[in-house]
Amino acid sequence: MILNFLALVFGYLCGSIPFGLILTALAGTADPRSIGSGNIGATNVLRTGRKDLAALTLFLDLAKGAAAVLIVAYLAGRRLPPETAWPPPPVLAAAVGAFLGHVYPVWLGFRGGKGVATFLGCLLIVAWPAGLAFIAVWLGAAIITRLSSLAALLASALSPAFLFALDQTSSAIVFALMAVLLWIKHGPNIARLRAGNETRIGKS
Ligand code: G3P
Repeated sequence: MILNFLALVFGYLCGSIPFGLILTALAGTADPRSIGSGNIGATNVLRTGRKDLAALTLFLDLAKGAAAVLIVAYLAGRRLPPETAWPPPPVLAAAVGAFLGHVYPVWLGFRGGKGVATFLGCLLIVAWPAGLAFIAVWLGAAIITRLSSLAALLASALSPAFLFALDQTSSAIVFALMAVLLWIKHGPNIARLRAGNETRIGKS
């Protein structure tokens, strides 16, 4: 129990690092909270006009989720019996923590991002085939529609099914709950998608 709590807190601290804000502040470009959708994620950082910062934001927001889960997997693996099924509960706790940290970072008054890249980073470590399937769905939808939000909504909604197909029931339940929060955070995007005026990738 204590191990799960520590993993959750560690994941939260990793996930709460707002790379989109840090990178744009260091580069002296517009604060992503003041442009476009106001989100601190890569899609909105791209609206500053800096593709390099957007790519780096995507990579680091993904990497912080992956790193949190990997580090906890390594540390928990030394304490748990070797026959423990994958993923052990602390690994899922770290994934939840990292995702919550990105969405509700204490450093920004709990007003963070929408969690897509961090969700994917965690998923890639928990079950890499499901992570690759997420990427395939996201890329397919994004290439066809140029709508980052729609791509993320589709890929996240399908992720629990990918995990079920891999016989990872507990992971599927946890990622389904994370996907629900991801959808809630995309409320304004869903409203724009329904109204037909969602901003396409690279447009402001
Ligand atoms: O990663 C968030 C993406 O799905 C939507 O971003 O800035 O268009 O709200 P944005």
